[in-house]
Amino acid sequence: DKGEYRHFMLKEIHEQPRVIKATMEGRLTDTSVLEQALGTSAGKLLENVRHVQIIACGTSFHAGMVARYWIEDLAGVPCSVEVASEFRYRKHVIQPDTLFLCISQSGETADTLAALRQAKKAGFRAALAICNVPGSSLVRESDLVIMTQAGPEIGVASTKAFTTQLTALLIFTLALARHNGLSTEAEAEIVEAIHLLPGQVDQVLALDGEIAEMSRAFMDKHHSLFLGRGSQFPVALEGALKLKEISYIHAEAYPAGELKHGPLALVDSEMPVVTVAPNNDLLEKLKSNLEEVRARGGELFVFADKVADVKAQDGIHVMQLPSVHPITAPIVYTVPLQLLSYHVAVLKGTDVDQPRNLAKSVTVE
Ligand code: F6R
Repeated sequence: DKGEYRHFMLKEIHEQPRVIKATMEGRLTDTSVLEQALGTSAGKLLENVRHVQIIACGTSFHAGMVARYWIEDLAGVPCSVEVASEFRYRKHVIQPDTLFLCISQSGETADTLAALRQAKKAGFRAALAICNVPGSSLVRESDLVIMTQAGPEIGVASTKAFTTQLTALLIFTLALARHNGLSTEAEAEIVEAIHLLPGQVDQVLALDGEIAEMSRAFMDKHHSLFLGRGSQFPVALEGALKLKEISYIHAEAYPAGELKHGPLALVDSEMPVVTVAPNNDLLEKLKSNLEEVRARGGELFVFADKVADVKAQDGIHVMQLPSVHPITAPIVYTVPLQLLSYHVAVLKGTDVDQPRNLAKSVTVE
């Protein structure tokens, strides 16, 4: 039931504060992660993990890419991320002390399951699943399961599944990090930031009207570029995927530092450039990337931390977001990009909930 909403996608975008909270529920105190809540065997399985191999597809793969930044940053454990369809068809090396982490909303994605089954033959320490569907094949075949509490996701374009995957992945990362020397103070700082997420996402949802206004600029465009740096690069990838899927506008995402190495050649007034700019240590570098785009006549749409001092001017549209912790920023910055795609699609009159050529669950190759 869509309730008051015009589409399931919009309803699911607006459910995010609640389902993010549900995904935190029972897994955190005010200042720490409750490792027991991740499963009674969690402590034992997470001890001595020396490497994490993440496998997923599509949006879930983007969640895995964000998690890699967190795992290496907070836990100091090397982490690789690969799309399941590539991993399963190449010879791969899995170290015995590897935690094999599959991320899937449905738990039935054929490539992800095949990758897990194959890796089992090669041997690893344990299989962890981040999944939204209880009783799915992935859940049944994994040693440890962290359920996202997104509830049924009907819109083909994944929204609340992604942000709850990220929430679960961050909680998992903290548990792993504790086995690898993260201080209780550092853990407390991030747990406090996680508790702020529902409220911050609510604040972003309140920008809906302004984002709808902004989306008009994309209606007659055929191409677009999404830029982000660090853990916001996968957010840019996810923003571009959403726009492609539901509005059929060609969208490409680049780490902002790669602009000069090719994509800058594409930039002109017909190529809107979307950028996510939280207030982290890469902000100054990102600002100079924005100058490069502006100098070539590209129109910029910047989602920036309100203290980041990115100034709106001719050709630079700035949407101010609440100040967030750099670690949790990817979760918050995903939301305006979901809304942007949604409104562009509505303006174009596409089938938002059932985009052409796509299925919700990809159970065949
Ligand atoms: C994009 C989307 C897909 C899925 C992908 C994996 O909006 O929904 O890219 O993320 O098919 O699906 P799951 O997570 O069910 O394995």
